[in-house]
Amino acid sequence: MKRFLCRPEQYSAKKVFCILMAAARLFLLTALVGCSERSLFTRYKGNYSWPVTSPASKKEVSCRKNPLQSAQRSCEISIELEQAFWKKPNMTKCKLLEKLPNSILDLQDIKLTEENAQDVVQHILYLLPDATLDAEELEIIARKISDIVELADMSVTLAETVLSILDYILLQEIEDENFRKITDCILRMTEEMGYKVLYTERNISVITTSLALLVLRPDPRLFGGLAFGITSYNRGMDLKISVQENLFRKALASVFLPKSLKNFLGIEYSDPDRRSKIQFKFFGTTSLFLDDSLTMERLKTYVVSASIENASVQNLNEPVTVTLHHIDQNRGNAAVHCVFWDFGKNNGLGGWNTSGCEMEYTDMNYTICFCNHLTHFGVLLDLARTEIGVTHDHILTLLSYAGCGASSFFLGITLMTYLTLEKVRRNNTSKILLNLCAALLMLNMVFLTNSWLTSFNQPGLCITVAMLLHYFLLAAFTWMCLESVHFYLALVKVFNAYVPKYILKCCIAGWDK
Ligand SMILES: *[C@@H]1O[C@H](CO)[C@@H](O)[C@H](O)[C@H]1NC(C)=O
Ligand SMILES: *[C@@H]1O[C@H](CO)[C@@H](O)[C@H](O)[C@H]1NC(C)=O
Ligand SMILES: *[C@@H]1O[C@H](CO)[C@@H](O)[C@H](O)[C@H]1NC(C)=O
Ligand SMILES: *[C@@H]1O[C@H](CO)[C@@H](O)[C@H](O)[C@H]1NC(C)=O
Repeated sequence: MKRFLCRPEQYSAKKVFCILMAAARLFLLTALVGCSERSLFTRYKGNYSWPVTSPASKKEVSCRKNPLQSAQRSCEISIELEQAFWKKPNMTKCKLLEKLPNSILDLQDIKLTEENAQDVVQHILYLLPDATLDAEELEIIARKISDIVELADMSVTLAETVLSILDYILLQEIEDENFRKITDCILRMTEEMGYKVLYTERNISVITTSLALLVLRPDPRLFGGLAFGITSYNRGMDLKISVQENLFRKALASVFLPKSLKNFLGIEYSDPDRRSKIQFKFFGTTSLFLDDSLTMERLKTYVVSASIENASVQNLNEPVTVTLHHIDQNRGNAAVHCVFWDFGKNNGLGGWNTSGCEMEYTDMNYTICFCNHLTHFGVLLDLARTEIGVTHDHILTLLSYAGCGASSFFLGITLMTYLTLEKVRRNNTSKILLNLCAALLMLNMVFLTNSWLTSFNQPGLCITVAMLLHYFLLAAFTWMCLESVHFYLALVKVFNAYVPKYILKCCIAGWDK
């Protein structure tokens, strides 16, 4: 109010002018205070007329289609402009004048605007349980959603509804070519939507059954690293989002952004509205990320992503840490590969790429990856060795144990017989046979104890077992070879076949590798 006052030391002429100006100002303000009558013609919800309204108050007008509900609009004062103005009306309660068609295919002619977007997505959600979700329907849904992302404003409710639609589709686990074509579209749209959602608080999160999205706007001055973690009570569902400043130890999926990413957060420190946003997403389903070019590898974790608005984060010195829980335990110790979703792979259909991501740690339950850029991350398991199912694996193990056991048993009997009966042991043929049996028995023994010994997870022990296995296998083969040489000498060169120290030489050849 200071500027309406005139200082006493001012000249009288100026004083009069000053008082006049102040009066004019006051008059103007009172005249402008209040919003004038305003008509609103809407294409889908009918025409509304807003009466003169005093500032800082809200007026309600009955909806055209459902008069029991009302549209609200508030009249507010702009401090800078010193005048009142109408805010955008809130017409979410008002129904569309015309009913939306009862099939997804017929929705293609409906043009999406801010006015009907919420109604249309709600309607799609309502139609989904009866939808076939074939190529055509999926394409229409994708097109509608991308129209929505084009709209200027996106409320949290709208984002939630759109994610619920995607969630529904993902949970159907459609694994075909049509679906692959819209993966790219879905990923790009959710990303864009995340950044567009209007919010007044520092962060927003949208969680559906299997999808989670979090958008934060951290203060770059205080940024000291940020971790996003997802926990779940039911294999990728019933999600819960948490954020903290250091790494998550136990989470279904988490991403940790190092402190050095501060440089990407923009320099508009003073104005919180102009700081860059960080977006994290979680996909509790693998059906969206199919890569036909993979032969032996499969995605065996859920997918998590991180990005910074309007920034392409590449070639970081300090890596981004991605921790992913395996969907099924990696019991077979299958090789793991840390990967990111490469939108350009497979002629634009997208696929997994290992470039820039390294495996830092892995065990049965978790894999930790270091990546030098921000995208969608996952972990592939090389199933070349574990393609056999668990039950088949058990049966095969049992069979080989039974076989080896029987073989060892009879080899043992043979050895015992030869060792106890001096008479049968005397000639060279039986001595060679004895050695062959010994080599085979040892081979069987090592093979049988193999899995027990390796279960200690001692590299030294593992190497020893492998060496023994190799040694006895070679020994067995050599003794077989010696046996045939012996038969050759005995049967073909029957007469001049005397070799001095025959068995000693054989032993050297047979056991000395
Ligand atoms: C519009 O009104 C509904 C309830 O009438 C409310 O839930 C919603 O938050 C409002 N939307 C906006 C943008 O104010
Ligand atoms: C969002 O911010 C509010 C207040 O700043 C905080 O209480 C809440 O825990 C945050 N939520 C997430 C998921 O970060
Ligand atoms: C993986 O990504 C890198 C970097 O983006 C690219 O140079 C490379 O060609 C990609 N590999 C494949 C197999 O697409
Ligand atoms: C993996 O998880 C199972 C069950 O949750 C647990 O018993 C086991 O000790 C874990 N293994 C490792 C190596 O952490």
